[in-house]
Amino acid sequence: MGKLTSVTAFAPATVANVSCGFDIMGFAIDAIGDRVTVAYADANTVKVTGPYGHLIPAAWEKNTASVAVQAYLTFIQKSGLTFSISLEKNMPLGSGMGSSASSSAAAVFAVNHLLGDVLSTKELIPFAMEGERVASGSAHADNVAPSLLGGFVLIRSYHPLDIITVTSPDELFCAVVHPHIELHTSDARRILQSEIPIGDVIKQTANTAGFMVGLLTEDYSLLGRSMSDLLAEPKRTRLIPGFDEAKQAAMQAGALGCGISGSGPSIFALSKGMSCAEEIAQAIKKSFLKVGLDSEAFTSSLNVKGAFVVDSK
Ligand code: HSE
Repeated sequence: MGKLTSVTAFAPATVANVSCGFDIMGFAIDAIGDRVTVAYADANTVKVTGPYGHLIPAAWEKNTASVAVQAYLTFIQKSGLTFSISLEKNMPLGSGMGSSASSSAAAVFAVNHLLGDVLSTKELIPFAMEGERVASGSAHADNVAPSLLGGFVLIRSYHPLDIITVTSPDELFCAVVHPHIELHTSDARRILQSEIPIGDVIKQTANTAGFMVGLLTEDYSLLGRSMSDLLAEPKRTRLIPGFDEAKQAAMQAGALGCGISGSGPSIFALSKGMSCAEEIAQAIKKSFLKVGLDSEAFTSSLNVKGAFVVDSK
């Protein structure tokens, strides 16, 4: 086979934070994701298509996909190469489902494959994080890491980056419901407190540890008990109309736990089994309707594949 000229990659949507793991936990879901094609070209260009394509910038310095690609090229000392990037933007912006991460993850995955898999998938994470920085002002990894790697991911450290994929129970499913309002991650981060009382830190740390043990020992009840957030959720719920009622509806429908997906406005819930996830999704949807919000529901097992090549030429 000759040298490739063009690669198309897909990277999935993700749920970040997972209640007790603000900025340090996330998982990929099977629902939707963005597609990016990277091809050799005479000059750097970005073309954005897809249902949400008209909403994002196509300038090379501003687009999450091209910023991530540029960071990658600079690192591997190939910034002299030029590419056309075509981003099929399938995910709504400001949804809390890792929309910008999906674009930057697919882009770095595609360009890395085009250049002969210079780096491992894990090594691509810092460059996809640069896409997050341009999209939200913060280079968090809890969406890009699971979008690239698949599965459940723990970011044990940012400096230096230490990212661990954690096994999860086979019967763990999730419901994610996206109410049709837009919430920018930058706005949802601005309202957070920078100082946290030590009592809250103790509770949050205990829950994060409990959640990890729950994943590893397949203890669904422990997972549910650990899904409590004292850092972001108390501040952010006021940005999501009907959040408390929707969470209550999810718990009544059998959720192990329920919280804000990433920075919102989507809500996610974990369940044991797919049929329970479907009931939860419907219950949350119904609850949002009561406050006049239409929504879109996704149910999924944890996506274990992460980013992958769809096509190459
Ligand atoms: N951890 C990030 C936040 C995720 O909550 O701001 C954004 O999707």
